[in-house]
Formats: sequence, structure tokens, C-alpha cells
Amino acid sequence: MNLKNRDFLKLLDYTPEEISYLIQLAADFKAKKKAGIPHRVCDGKNIALIFEKTSTRTRCSFEVAARDLGMGTTYLDPTGSQIGKKESIADTARVLSGIYDGIEYRGFGQEIVEELAKYASVPVWNGLTNEFHPTQILADFLTIKEKFGKLQGINFVYMGDARYNMGNSLMVGCAKMGMNFTACAPKKYFPDQALIDECQSIAAKTGATLRFCENVAEGVRSADVIYTDVWVSMGEPVEVWAERIAELSPYQVNADLMSMASKNAIFMHCLPAFHDKKTTIGCEMGDKFERDAMEVTDEVFESTQSVVFEEAENRMHTIKAVMAATLTDL
Ligand code: CP
Ligand code: NVA
Repeated sequence: MNLKNRDFLKLLDYTPEEISYLIQLAADFKAKKKAGIPHRVCDGKNIALIFEKTSTRTRCSFEVAARDLGMGTTYLDPTGSQIGKKESIADTARVLSGIYDGIEYRGFGQEIVEELAKYASVPVWNGLTNEFHPTQILADFLTIKEKFGKLQGINFVYMGDARYNMGNSLMVGCAKMGMNFTACAPKKYFPDQALIDECQSIAAKTGATLRFCENVAEGVRSADVIYTDVWVSMGEPVEVWAERIAELSPYQVNADLMSMASKNAIFMHCLPAFHDKKTTIGCEMGDKFERDAMEVTDEVFESTQSVVFEEAENRMHTIKAVMAATLTDL
């Protein structure tokens, strides 16, 4: 398997074999890191990290993974560069390609990261767009593999806003890896029909199944994994909270819902999560709408079924795999 010079923009661009390879490579790097075995396979290289939206996990993962691989990093924050304001994406891509060996981009429309990749002569990695969050899915799948020993045949249920980056990318990932994907939400929160159709045709080849279900009990029955994400994503206006709470509350992941899933089901969330009122937004919205939690209760978040912090750690190992595979022959 040689992925050198490839971009990593969305899972649709990768075969199931390539995705499996990246997950296995991440597991190998994780084992090396735990054993204290150096793996500076990108020694002397440098990468640029463009963030037009804020981040904790993705930024830290790219920075630490880069350092472990022997690379230097430059972080460009949401306000600290000329991108988009004084310099086009195409020009930025060509400037950064002359200085760096790889570019990470987190921002708004998927078309922006695609444009960056088109004009860049070095690999470009998608660190989240409105439509897709592919590095997150690698971490999620590594975590599922660690818990269940496999991906094929896993019953994966996504609760909540399934038409945004997480729902979309998880549906694509499940279709690619032969998993049984359910989006459980009101109909208007189902992914875009064109993407569903594309995933159905992938599923026909991999043995995956895709299901879209409004009924909670039906949706979560036999689930091995219950996954959710925030109801209001970065970049969305604050006004949508009222509608989201009204429409998505029945899909909140709580102890009742978990009890309807498989006995050994795990709870996953890409994070950050509104599971209590210990954040500014969680507190503001919690007070306004008289709620202690949003998409997941604190009880489930803190339960033994929750694997969210292992999942977060796996961001680093999987991002490391993506960079090493696309920057070197390994
Ligand atoms: N899950 C995730 O992408 O987290 P950050 O927004 O903190 O990077
Ligand atoms: N849907 C969330 C994911 C955060 C990792 C957002 O875009 O804000």
C-alpha cells in the first residue's frame, strides 16, 4: 500500500483497503508510542496547520503527531493569516506548497479544502469542513476495532443531526467498511439524498446496510455503538438552538436510550459535548432552555459504556498515520 502524495479530503476518495491500512498503521504507531519506540519517519519535514474554526483535539493531534514524526509545525489561527481576506485559496496553496511538505485545513465549505488541494503541490488533509470530518472517523473506527475486534457487521447508530459533517462522514465510513449504519433523527436531519445514494452503491459492494429511522426504540435496538454530536455546529447561528432543542430532544442519548441498545453497547462522541452546564454555551443555553444537558446526559457521558476519551486520544494516532502515509514511502 503506497499513499504517498495523496490528499486526505474525504473518505469517499479512499478504498476500504486503504482505510483499513490507515487504521492498522495508526494502531502500530500507537503501540510504538506506548512502548517508547521512536518513529521519526518524517524527520526534517514541516507542515502548515490552517484553522478557520477553533479546535482542541484536531490541532493538538496534528501538532503532537507531527513532533513524534520529526516534523515542525506552523499554526495559522482563525484570524492570523491573509487566507480568504487578502489572498485567495489558490494563491495560498501555491505559497504554502513552496515552504511546507503538507497542509492541514479546517474551515467551512468542503469546496474550499478541495480547491486548496487542487492548487497545492503537497498533500492536503481535511481537519473538518461543514460537510466532512474524515480524520475523526479514522479515530472512531480505530476505537471500535479496539473494543469489538472488527468493523464489518457492527451495528452503528448515529443519533441527532445526521446531515452535517459527522453524520455524513460516519455514513460514508460505515458504507466503506461493511458496517450497518442507522441515522436516527427526524427526517429533515437525514443526510442529503445524493450522498445517501452514493453510499448505498458503496454498501452494495461491501455488505454494509444503511437505514434511516425516526423511531428511537426501533433505531437503537441491537446497536453496538451509539454515537452523537452537538446539535448546533461551529459556524451555525445561535438562533437555531431553539429549533434544534425542540426537534432533537427526543433523540438525546440518555440512560433509557442506552438500555434499549445491545448489552455491550458503547457510547461515542467526537467531542466537545454539551453533557453538563460547565461551559459558557452549555450554561447559557441550559439556563435559557431549562436543560441540564443537550445531546447526551452527564450520566451516559461519564458511564463505563462511554469511550469518548479513548476516542479523543485516537485522533492523534490516526492523524499521525495519515501524515506518515501521505508524506513518505514508509
Ligand atoms: N472532535 C474534534 O474535531 O474536536 P476539536 O474541534 O477540538 O478539534
Ligand atoms: N459537528 C461539529 C463537530 C465538531 C468536531 C462541528 O462542526 O462543530
